Amino acid sequence: MAKQTKGKQGGGKVSAKTQTTTVRKQTPMHSMMEKLFMDQLKSLYYMEKNQIRTLGRLAKKATTDELKDVLLEHQEITQEQLGRLDQVFEILGKRAQVRKCPAFDGLVEEADELLGDTEEDTLTRDVALIVSVQKIKHYEIAGYGCLTTLARTYAMQEAADWLQESLDEEKDMDQQLTYIAENNINYEAGLEEEE
Ligand SMILES: [Fe+2]
Repeated sequence: MAKQTKGKQGGGKVSAKTQTTTVRKQTPMHSMMEKLFMDQLKSLYYMEKNQIRTLGRLAKKATTDELKDVLLEHQEITQEQLGRLDQVFEILGKRAQVRKCPAFDGLVEEADELLGDTEEDTLTRDVALIVSVQKIKHYEIAGYGCLTTLARTYAMQEAADWLQESLDEEKDMDQQLTYIAENNINYEAGLEEEE
């Protein structure tokens, strides 16, 4: 069992609103931590690289122009996010590399399954796309969020700033998809007749 280094925290849960990241360490990460950080960075690189193709493919399957446009716009943003990860690798003095991410591959596989279960030119198809892409976005938000926090903790401020920018874009995309779903694809999809 990991040794506890702190006593019981007073005050219970920390609210997400009041939570801040404190830079506690000015020293480099130890080798095991660095490997963990780099492996996660490579996984993000894998996800962004693959999404450029995946988002284009999913956009072609969208029924509404609204969803298609959002997916294609995000495909362009993804290209920029890939460039930011290149910057982070460079700042850290490492070669940009991918690391296969089975969880991401599983989410893409699930997206293809959902598409297979829905018919072309239906709003139900768009609901399936929104569900699939939001799951991918949430996974990316977790990845970018963890690495941004770690980078700040270890005083890698420039890397943290690049990661934060992409994290904010992923959150924006998630909100855009929720907006489209609520106005009114989810509801109207429910009115579709099955043939
Ligand atoms: Fe992304």
